[in-house]
Amino acid sequence: MAGQRVATIDLDSRQKSLTHWAKRTLTDLELAVHFSVARAEGANVHENEAVEFADKVITAVQHCHFLVIDAPPHDSYLMRLAHSIADTLVSPLNDSFLDLDVLAMVDPVTFAVTEVSHYAEMVRKARRLRRSVDGAMTDWVVARNRLPLLGACVKPIICEGLNELGLRLGFRVTEGFAERAIYRELFPRGLTALDDLDEIMPCTEPDPLCLTARQEVRTLLDTLRLPLDERGRRRAAARAQWFASCDNPLDTHEILDT
Ligand SMILES: Nc1ncnc2c1ncn2[C@@H]1O[C@H](COP(=O)(O)OP(=O)(O)O)[C@@H](O)[C@H]1O
Ligand SMILES: [Mg+2]
Repeated sequence: MAGQRVATIDLDSRQKSLTHWAKRTLTDLELAVHFSVARAEGANVHENEAVEFADKVITAVQHCHFLVIDAPPHDSYLMRLAHSIADTLVSPLNDSFLDLDVLAMVDPVTFAVTEVSHYAEMVRKARRLRRSVDGAMTDWVVARNRLPLLGACVKPIICEGLNELGLRLGFRVTEGFAERAIYRELFPRGLTALDDLDEIMPCTEPDPLCLTARQEVRTLLDTLRLPLDERGRRRAAARAQWFASCDNPLDTHEILDT
């Protein structure tokens, strides 16, 4: 991601972790724009929030290569809106039935998937909405998180359930991140595992645990297949143009040309 201009929007106005991290970031990542959408109050909350959010999204896509939106875990109008505009949706999932429950309910005896749950249902609707607007299909990636360091797959039943559900709902499953203290330690410094810590903190030995975490992050980024090449950039520019033109009324000649 080096050299990419990245905008971030924090929709989790209670937790604000992304905002706190972005404030401290010292990295060479060109964090050009950061927005945090304030908690709105009043009669027209949905409309006010949506207008503010749309404004920020348009600014971001016009000035940056990538826009990262951190969504809150609780359901809200804005959270659904964010899901419907995402090209790539990453859902981190802890390896437990408690977390799997937001995607699907399972049979207590056989652990077979019996019903699709609220979050998966919301994503299904958001993707359908997106498809009807510009024909694009959100790439949904469920990243397993906080995996125990011992044993590649301690809970094979969850793996099987997730893979089955992925086929049903159209998401890809990826081994995301193991449970590592290093991720927590980098947060207050505004760093990521990808940063060159030798440069930022000279005279410290390269930490093998940090190198493993860095590899984990790189693997996840590869899995996401982000538009980092020229073709991807052209597509992103075309999208930005499309967003920018949404506000402009059509000229008479544009209508006559179609
Ligand atoms: N891979 C990981 N390794 C270690 N701790 C993690 C990992 N992922 C999340 N955590 C910890 O789990 C807690 C919740 O994570 P967070 O990303 O803030 O979730 P959310 O935004 O959904 O509340 C935090 O204390 C965070 O440090
Ligand atoms: Mg959070």
